[in-house]
Formats: sequence, C-alpha cells, structure tokens
Amino acid sequence: MTLKKMFIVVAVLALALAACGGSSGDGGDGDGGGSATTTAASGGGSGDAAAGATVYTGTCATCHGPTAGGVDGLGKPLAPSEFVVANSEDELVAFIKVGRPTSDPANTQGVDMPPKGGNPSLSDQDLHDVAAYIKSLN
Ligand code: HEC
Repeated sequence: MTLKKMFIVVAVLALALAACGGSSGDGGDGDGGGSATTTAASGGGSGDAAAGATVYTGTCATCHGPTAGGVDGLGKPLAPSEFVVANSEDELVAFIKVGRPTSDPANTQGVDMPPKGGNPSLSDQDLHDVAAYIKSLN
C-alpha cells in the first residue's frame, strides 16, 4: 500500500514538472492561458481550412479579393501563388504574423501587408486555419 502511494506521488510530481516545462518558454503573444489543448493532428498542419475560410473572408478578402485572386493596388493573388505553395503552413503563419512592409526588399506592390492582416485579435489557431485555407486553394 505505501509503495502504491509512493507511485502516485511520483506520478503527480512528474505531471507537475511536465506541465511547468511545457508552459514556460518564450511567452509569445497569441492564445496563452489554457494549457490542455493538444490537437490530434499536431506537427505541421494543424489548421482547419474550413474555419480558415471564415478568417479569410473577415480579414484578408479586403486586400486579397473574395476568391483570393488579388486586388489591383492592394494584396497580391494568393491563388495561384508560388509563395503560398513554396511555404509550409507554419512558415505562412510566421509570415502572416510579421507581414511584409514596403521597406522589405521582397515587397513588389508598394503597399504594406500588415502584421496579421491588420487584425491583432487573430489567434495562432486562426492563423493556422487561414494558412491551411490559402494552401488548399493552390
Ligand atoms: C491591408 C491589406 C492587406 C490585408 C488585410 C492582408 N494582406 Fe496579405 N498582402 C498585402 C499586400 C499588399 C501584399 C503584397 C506585398 C508585396 O508587395 O510583396 C500581401 C502579401 C501576402 C502574402 C504573400 C503573397 C506572395 O505571393 O508573396 C500572403 C501569403 C498574404 N498576404 C496573406 C494574407 C492573409 C492570410 C491575410 C489575412 C489574415 C492577409 N494577407 C491580409 C496586403 C494585405
């Protein structure tokens, strides 16, 4: 019996340690808070393209067009887009977080792509979803 108790104590300690290790870190922006949101499909593409379509319409369509074909003088076409094809979902999420200001030599439009498309309320999950969505168009 006492041995069994020991086991439980050790197990609880191990869990507590794991929880600490997992949540400490770079303290990024994004969703913070809640801890136990492990998606089955972790690693790489955790975005949901269907949910991303809603994010796209709400935030990106103004500049990139309702069907992602681009808008003259605003956002470039995202379908087709070699950039979207060449970058992984994670890379696209990183890109969208930063955007591409006119000061970036890679900028071709002379118009800023604002960080998160100018919508700071988008969560990491929203960004994964919208990245999955624009990849699904290519
Ligand atoms: C205020 C207008 C604006 C909004 C809103 C906007 N973008 Fe952009 N985006 C741009 C512009 C302008 C560029 C092109 C910059 C350049 O000249 O390279 C761009 C470029 C991109 C690119 C790179 C395309 C390529 O082929 O190089 C991606 C990917 C992208 N946007 C995704 C998004 C997503 C996803 C959203 C919504 C979360 C979004 N954008 C919202 C203006 C916008």
